[in-house]
Amino acid sequence: MTVLEVIGLNYSFGKQPVLDDISLTLEKGDIAGLIGNNGAGKTTLMKLISGILERTNGTIDLKTKTVGALIETPALYPNMTVEANLKFYCRLYHKDYSLIDCYKEDLEVATYLKRKASKLSLGMKQRVGLFIALIASDEFILLDEPTNGLDPNGINSLLILIERLAKNHGLTFIISSHILSNLEQVCTKNYLLKNHKLTCLDDDANAKYKIYTEDLSMKSLMTLLKLNDLAFERQRHDILVKGIEKIKQVLGQEGIPFTYEKAGLSEVLFNGN
Ligand SMILES: Nc1ncnc2c1ncn2[C@@H]1O[C@H](COP(=O)(O)OP(=O)(O)OP(=O)(O)O)[C@@H](O)[C@H]1O
Ligand SMILES: [Mg+2]
Repeated sequence: MTVLEVIGLNYSFGKQPVLDDISLTLEKGDIAGLIGNNGAGKTTLMKLISGILERTNGTIDLKTKTVGALIETPALYPNMTVEANLKFYCRLYHKDYSLIDCYKEDLEVATYLKRKASKLSLGMKQRVGLFIALIASDEFILLDEPTNGLDPNGINSLLILIERLAKNHGLTFIISSHILSNLEQVCTKNYLLKNHKLTCLDDDANAKYKIYTEDLSMKSLMTLLKLNDLAFERQRHDILVKGIEKIKQVLGQEGIPFTYEKAGLSEVLFNGN
């Protein structure tokens, strides 16, 4: 089931273009990672999808009834306790207070429910922000750098929770992060925002694979790839290729056994993308 369909989205702040002809489709249960340099437009894209910013052209077809978002700092009433803030959002989104009990252990906020919001650390605020996003929607959630400010345990439990919510309850997520390993841990697909364009790094055209064979030296393997017009990158002791099906075909014809594995995000990003 499709949850979100973005087609031909452009966005500018005044004369400064930010997003150029962005298209993106998410299915129920997807955890989409969003990567891009500072200022690439990740937050802008999330604000447009969640409706915080108004779309000026293109299509954003949100097929869920609700959307939850943690974008920049969560809006908390500083003089109210965490619990009072959460109850406020339960009323706002017409949810039962029992939701607070349901998530308080997983989000590790149980120990500071009675503390005033103004007295929270950055990581604590992030967790409450995520809590509010979960109160707002049990269908589709946008998280802008949610691991920011969390300690390593907090990051791990957050990622496990996201994965569980997607797998067991069919929630769909978009998560932006500069920590590629965080995204690799949970994302079912990853997108790169660069030069105003959005690319899916897992498409056949973009996904990279490392290939290994014991039957040929590295030099002979590279020669064979060149002879067959197959593009590759050499990265120290690895050969990276795109279009694994064509490689399978060519090496298969030559009778050369080989193994391959999908390259990590950092290898995809820092080599020719
Ligand atoms: N309210 C605004 N008014 C004008 N320009 C803006 C506004 N918000 C963002 N921009 C510009 O839009 C571009 C994209 O910003 P955005 O915040 O979406 O980037 P980002 O990918 O989220 O970056 P970061 O990794 O630093 O969070 C930047 O050039 C930024 O200066
Ligand atoms: Mg941002």
